[in-house]
Amino acid sequence: MKKNTGAQLALYPAPVIVVGAMVDGKPNWTLVAHAGVMAHSHLMLSMVKAHYTNKGIRENKVVSVNVVDASWLGDADKMGCVSGNKTDKSEAFAYTLGERGAPMIDEAKVTMECEVEDIYELQGFENFICRITATYVEEDILTEKDKIDYRKFKPVLFQFPTYEYLETGDILGACMKMN
Ligand SMILES: Cc1cc2nc3c(=O)[nH]c(=O)nc-3n(C[C@H](O)[C@H](O)[C@H](O)COP(=O)(O)O)c2cc1C
Repeated sequence: MKKNTGAQLALYPAPVIVVGAMVDGKPNWTLVAHAGVMAHSHLMLSMVKAHYTNKGIRENKVVSVNVVDASWLGDADKMGCVSGNKTDKSEAFAYTLGERGAPMIDEAKVTMECEVEDIYELQGFENFICRITATYVEEDILTEKDKIDYRKFKPVLFQFPTYEYLETGDILGACMKMN
């Protein structure tokens, strides 16, 4: 028997990222779990309009998406606890500027630099539609064909109901070869 629990968001666990943007000439970082795939070329970041980072994204239309793993989860978590509206977070990470000017976290093993092509506002959220322009990956976690090896790289996941972090686990099988 299944019970209808109402309109509950149930798309978890979700990968955790730190979004980086320049705001008034300095980098700012925000923890985000509500992000999604759009086509094979774009992703979407769902961010509360009042966040300090949003101001920089609106101004520059460029962001970095830094995929969190356990090695820097503590530092990433801090970016979800304090806002640049009150506290200067610009020195939280060593960073490198991407080709389009997005600040990218050196410690992150996977970082995408993106251009913001559109903003869809919904219920106090700005949903940034972003085109991926470059993906920087630590060489140790790359396969010979320059793909990310998820046997080696374990993104951190987040689940809403209990506000906890998880890690990706074991391989269950090969896609389209399960039968
Ligand atoms: C685990 C976790 C996930 C979060 N996910 C999101 C999210 O998807 N979208 C969002 O707008 N805020 C999210 N937040 C909240 C922001 O990270 C937080 O409010 C941050 O301080 C905003 O920083 P800023 O004002 O400097 O941009 C999350 C926080 C935590 C702890």
